[in-house]
Amino acid sequence: MTQPISVLFLCLGNICRSPLAEGLFRHHAERAGVLDQLTIDSAGTSAYHAGDPPDPGSIRVALHNDIDIADQRSRPLVPADFEQFDFVICMDRKNLRSVAQHMPSERGFLIREFDDKATRGLDVPDPYGQRHSGFEKVFEMLDRCMPTLLEYVLDKGPRT
Ligand code: 4NP
Repeated sequence: MTQPISVLFLCLGNICRSPLAEGLFRHHAERAGVLDQLTIDSAGTSAYHAGDPPDPGSIRVALHNDIDIADQRSRPLVPADFEQFDFVICMDRKNLRSVAQHMPSERGFLIREFDDKATRGLDVPDPYGQRHSGFEKVFEMLDRCMPTLLEYVLDKGPRT
């Protein structure tokens, strides 16, 4: 069996944005029939919510779109992740800054680098503490990035 391509989604708390990104990426990969070629996870740059399920706002917007992320649990990023994952996909520039010194630039990205509608700024806004519409906006933004991201990682493949 060929080596899977591993992708880690990263945000601050690992309860709002990166769990949604993980669920969406899994969903897109499943629809494309390539889920078995991938290892997918998410983490936070902080341990503020370690062990917690995703934020109710993220669970709700995902469920509205037939994606169940309720079983995910927040975990902090650990040094082994830099060895383990082929790609670390960050929700904002601050997240990317905390990984940039630990990995080569061709393995660490902002997710909105894959958003063909991105205009100004490439950060995914943090919906923590916001109303449902904030989570919907983030969902749509992340959903838009997924086909291009999926194509990119499948094309690049695992590190050799
Ligand atoms: P996330 O959102 O990084 O998208 O999971 C946040 C969740 C919690 C906190 C900040 C951002 N917090 O400060 O607890």
